[in-house]
Amino acid sequence: MIVCLCRGVPEQTIQRVIASGARTVDDVSRICGAGSDCGACYRALAEMVREAEGAVCAAGDRT
Ligand code: FES
Repeated sequence: MIVCLCRGVPEQTIQRVIASGARTVDDVSRICGAGSDCGACYRALAEMVREAEGAVCAAGDRT
């Protein structure tokens, strides 16, 4: 699924960018361009970043 229509960036690319170390929407935008145009995808990007952060925190809670 394309998350950022302006830049044509699919969900898989954004997930890969987050997995490689992006921690904010600005990081994601800088790396792959998603969110750097009209901003309509900002909420979706923020949610993906937040979910990834939650997954890391949840994993950290178990250790
Ligand atoms: S849809 Fe992502 S910047 Fe426009």
